Amino acid sequence: FLMCASLQLKVPRNFRLLEELEEGQKGVGDGTVSWGLEDDEDMTLTRWTGMIIGPPRTNYENRIYSLRVECGPKYPEVPPTVRYVTKISMNGINNSNGMVDARSIPVLAKWQNSYSIKVVLQDLRRQMMSKENMKLPQPPEGQTYSN
Ligand SMILES: *[C@@H]1O[C@H](CO)[C@@H](O)[C@H](O)[C@H]1NC(C)=O
Repeated sequence: FLMCASLQLKVPRNFRLLEELEEGQKGVGDGTVSWGLEDDEDMTLTRWTGMIIGPPRTNYENRIYSLRVECGPKYPEVPPTVRYVTKISMNGINNSNGMVDARSIPVLAKWQNSYSIKVVLQDLRRQMMSKENMKLPQPPEGQTYSN
């Protein structure tokens, strides 16, 4: 019984994440965001990398943004934690370490377990296009947060 109980807790999370992994490998969507496991050997499916192509007609244009996404044991009941690796100036992003403040990103603030890593990356990209963010002066290209 105990074993069944633990399987019931685990299967939906891993099932979901394996689906997300497959989608990421196929490259679903319009190619403006992508995602994959940080380490293919990570059987816990916890640590992911994300990529966002800077939207045209913004100060993020022609830049590629790398992110780290961590899906904890309670994902997808609990949202992932997300951090920009590439330096960025944007509302809701901690400018000393790139951490995304969940309160300022709509899909994280109002997280639902039907959301996914893709939805988070798309929402971040949408934020980059918002009036308050699109014309913010940006750090020189190619810099990353050190920690
Ligand atoms: C940014 O992150 C640092 C390190 O975790 C923290 O000390 C600081 O308070 C954060 N800044 C904001 C504005 O949340």
